[in-house]
Amino acid sequence: MSPVVKNNFDDLTLFLNENKYDQIFVLVDQNTKLHCYSLIEQIVPNALLIEVEAGEKSKQINTCFQVWEQLSLHLASRHALLINLGGGMISDLGGFVASTYKRGIDFINIPTSLLAMVDASIGGKTGIDFQGIKNMIGLIVQPKLILTNPIFLKTLAPRQIRSGYAEMLKHGMIADRKYLQALMTVNIEEIEDWAFLIQKSIDIKKRIVDQDPTEQGLRKILNFGHSIGHALESCFLEDTADELFHGEAVAWGMVVESFLSTKVLGFQLNDFSQFYNFIQKNYSAVKLSTVDVNKVFVLLQQDKKNTGSLINFVLLQEIGKAQFDISCNEDLIKDALKTLYQFNQ
Ligand SMILES: NC(=O)c1ccc[n+]([C@@H]2O[C@H](COP(=O)([O-])OP(=O)(O)OC[C@H]3O[C@@H](n4cnc5c(N)ncnc54)[C@H](O)[C@@H]3O)[C@@H](O)[C@H]2O)c1
Ligand SMILES: [Zn+2]
Repeated sequence: MSPVVKNNFDDLTLFLNENKYDQIFVLVDQNTKLHCYSLIEQIVPNALLIEVEAGEKSKQINTCFQVWEQLSLHLASRHALLINLGGGMISDLGGFVASTYKRGIDFINIPTSLLAMVDASIGGKTGIDFQGIKNMIGLIVQPKLILTNPIFLKTLAPRQIRSGYAEMLKHGMIADRKYLQALMTVNIEEIEDWAFLIQKSIDIKKRIVDQDPTEQGLRKILNFGHSIGHALESCFLEDTADELFHGEAVAWGMVVESFLSTKVLGFQLNDFSQFYNFIQKNYSAVKLSTVDVNKVFVLLQQDKKNTGSLINFVLLQEIGKAQFDISCNEDLIKDALKTLYQFNQ
């Protein structure tokens, strides 16, 4: 069971008083050190800081070496604690490093990006990218505490906010029409009360993960938008001039996959159009050439969600009703991608 998400910094003090750790380490990147660490430092003044470079390129084995080395240099015992203070890169990396150091020390997540608050910090998936493949190496281990406070969003770039927002839209699409409507009727830049919306997303993700922690079935629905999304992400990975954030790729992935849903599961065209309009208004267009369409298709064939030669998707019957392991054929997928391309002209 994933831990209950706490919101108050007093809960951190309480947790640390209840658990007498030998040593406390805080893992940060340069941005979270600059913008977020001072709040935690007040609560844990004697913690040892471990800093890694910001960005997805740090989510790899060499960075693990650096962090393990720091833990070892400071003689971290099995009763040390690692606090992951950052976005999803930090919680994925830190969770993996902690779970493997001396066969596992405790870690907690204090997410500082919207994406980490509503998604990456919950559910226990930890790990690193390997040989160009995302999240290739890793474990599912639950943090001892998740402390989510929207105060950190004040310094997060608007584009990062929108990236995280896509995962919230995903939660609405797969689980809750009313929540989706609430998300689509606000102006993202003007949101003041983040706590309510974030909590709703956390509840949806937790409810799904707790029913299927190791992703044997139901948890797969959280991958809605991600089959196409990951393929788009990989496609753009080589293109340094035109970086695509994870949530942006997922946003367009959801557009393509809801289009597929209209063809395969009778998803309402009206709902598709409304969703598509919202994405088009809030996310920059993804430009795909015919060559890219073929490239995306090849990447899709490598997706670990596939069984044999079939390409599996999470598709929607209606908003709030997702089905997993729905296979689609090559023509249908290419048509859907070409439609996305035309949409984005
Ligand atoms: N484990 C899971 O279930 C899960 C789920 C979704 C995504 N992920 C992973 O999460 C990662 C993406 O997460 P992300 O979008 O948070 O990326 P990230 O951790 O790289 O953070 C994005 C950027 O924002 C900066 N940042 C973070 N918090 C900030 C703040 N409060 N103020 C200013 N800058 C801040 C970071 O330094 C970084 O430059 C990917 O590696 C993805 O695979 C994991
Ligand atoms: Zn995602």
